Amino acid sequence: MNIPKIQSVRGMNDILPDEAEFWDRFDETIRSWLKSYGYRPIRLPIVEPTPLFKRAIGEVTDIVEKEMYSFVDSLNGESLTLRPEGTAGCVRAVIQHNLMAQQPQRLYYVGQMFRHERPQKGRYRQFHQVGVEALGFPGPDIDAEHILMGARLWDDLGLDGIVLQLNTLGQPAERACHRAELITYFEQHSALLDEDSRRRLHSNPLRILDSKNPALQEVVRGAPQLIDHLGAESLAHFEGVQQVLRDAGQPFAINPRLVRGLDYYNLTVFEWVTDRLGAQGTVCAGGRYDGLVQQLGGKPAPACGFAMGVERLIALIREAGGEVKAAPVDVYVVHQGEAASRLAARVAEGLRDRAIDVLFHCGGGGFKAQMKKADASGASFAVIIGDDEAQAGEVTLKALRQTGEQSNEQRRVVVDGVADEIMSSILDWDEA
Ligand code: HAM
Repeated sequence: MNIPKIQSVRGMNDILPDEAEFWDRFDETIRSWLKSYGYRPIRLPIVEPTPLFKRAIGEVTDIVEKEMYSFVDSLNGESLTLRPEGTAGCVRAVIQHNLMAQQPQRLYYVGQMFRHERPQKGRYRQFHQVGVEALGFPGPDIDAEHILMGARLWDDLGLDGIVLQLNTLGQPAERACHRAELITYFEQHSALLDEDSRRRLHSNPLRILDSKNPALQEVVRGAPQLIDHLGAESLAHFEGVQQVLRDAGQPFAINPRLVRGLDYYNLTVFEWVTDRLGAQGTVCAGGRYDGLVQQLGGKPAPACGFAMGVERLIALIREAGGEVKAAPVDVYVVHQGEAASRLAARVAEGLRDRAIDVLFHCGGGGFKAQMKKADASGASFAVIIGDDEAQAGEVTLKALRQTGEQSNEQRRVVVDGVADEIMSSILDWDEA
């Protein structure tokens, strides 16, 4: 019978062991980087009530209009959604658990997000974000901290060529003024608009500025600018962010067309962009969202944050030649014969007690075949136990790493001494 294979869902990728080990090391870098800035982890559900995202991200956005994986919980009829991003859930959790009662919060999360977009290189339906949120900080210092955190991470990861784009979206009242002017302007040029833009003309005209349609670029270039509607406070906030960046020697480009695809932002918005990944070049993006906590039912509190696309960053690290080989195990245990195998299992556990990583051969087979597997495993040593060794209460220790004189060295060691012997060889090698 020919049983059809089941494939993964389009745009949702398996991360196989070679790749996953790379991700693990990326995670370690990320976590120590976040710790060095005093950010604390928060783990959030992947599924949230659909209204959370509608309210936070906005009804007239690509994400809410077309990209959410929503479904009805058949048990109670509630509409649920696989999170398309992490900010909404994080703010919900902060409100629900009253986390800001004592002090402002610096938080981060890492995990899967889901958007029903057309998959292409760098754009997936299940992807991963590292998200950073700071709640309760009103000044431009925290916006700048977030931006400079990015710069340090690119450095830590050995990445260059990621450039910073910066903009301000002002406050809602300032945007309302600008919006009215924009609508008038685009109405005057409505013949030039595409279908998407015409649909958005009255609901979300700001998004027209973000249109990628080449035919619209000229009319967009001539559109009224938000910066001309900003009051003194908004301008001062923007200037404050820029001042810290200049002091830190961090170059940036102000991009008045950077409006972001989520509605919760005000004041500072930014994106880190590379031209090395083709069309999906934004590796990190974020900004301030002072209205969101209140909008989701909390006491008003200023906030800002950003999120990075892990797949895109890992692609960049790979592209930059950052292929890090997974550290192989220290020891491969080869054994044959009943008594030998029982001793071998004990030896393996004894080595692990001493924090030595051990691959225990499973599945039987002769010494020759097992030694081949030991070589292929990348282990530094084979511990070999046959009848002879078992009887003598010894093991044969064979160095597998090619280290000059030591290469292929092989000696008998008493069972109780094998861990010490391995440890001292590793130390010798590390010193050499
Ligand atoms: P976002 O710009 O929608 O912002 O996503 C942040 C990053 O996630 C993007 O810059 C990109 O690197 C990555 N990303 C987004 N969609 C995909 C996809 N389909 N495939 C692969 N990578 C993707 C947010 O999500 C906000 N929550 C960021 C934020 C946090 N703002 C304030 N706090």
